[in-house]
Amino acid sequence: MGRGKLIVFEGVDGTGKSTQIGLLKQYLEEQGKEVVTSFEPTHGEWGRRVRAAAASGQRLEVQKEVEYLLRDRREHVQKVILPALTEGKWVLLDRYYPSMMAYQGATGEDVEEIRRRNEAFAPAPDMAIWLDIPVQEALRRVQNRGREKDAFEQANFLEAVARIYATMDTPWWRRIPAVGEVMETQTLIRREMITCL
Ligand code: TYD
Repeated sequence: MGRGKLIVFEGVDGTGKSTQIGLLKQYLEEQGKEVVTSFEPTHGEWGRRVRAAAASGQRLEVQKEVEYLLRDRREHVQKVILPALTEGKWVLLDRYYPSMMAYQGATGEDVEEIRRRNEAFAPAPDMAIWLDIPVQEALRRVQNRGREKDAFEQANFLEAVARIYATMDTPWWRRIPAVGEVMETQTLIRREMITCL
């Protein structure tokens, strides 16, 4: 059995990553693939601390965020991602280290240093799907979910996050416009998958 594929979804909050992941999972299973879905930050101890702070409206100091999120990712890679890939499964992730490059990068950390620190232990994705929509539209969608915005979900900050996503240029990075209907976006994503199948 070959190594599985690691497909990562990225984008500012409210882009519809989880909906698109669910639809892609269905499609890949119809193609006979075994699919595992997961997300970061995880619900483990370190991911929980970062989420809890953001939900209370007050983010942690950025160096702390980096350290906690790296610990969270290290556990995730060891316990979930690498075992599934070794078993030949497809792993679909809602956020991974490009989120740290974009979010902690937008908070002032050096983007390339963040990349290096992550790639020292985290396998690079086979493909990262960046769901690109204007920040104002993304924030409208977050509000329509009927929950309070957390400390990450501020327009100026997310504009800075989006500017970093726009500079990413590794061979596995794909920009998908996500302003259309759900199935239109899904069709664009499935078209990209053909190069991985
Ligand atoms: P998110 O996927 O938006 O969680 P939820 O759907 O539960 O709101 O992730 C929570 C926040 O964590 C998100 O705003 C981005 C942030 N984040 C980072 O700042 N750095 C990272 O490395 C990761 C994985 C997430």
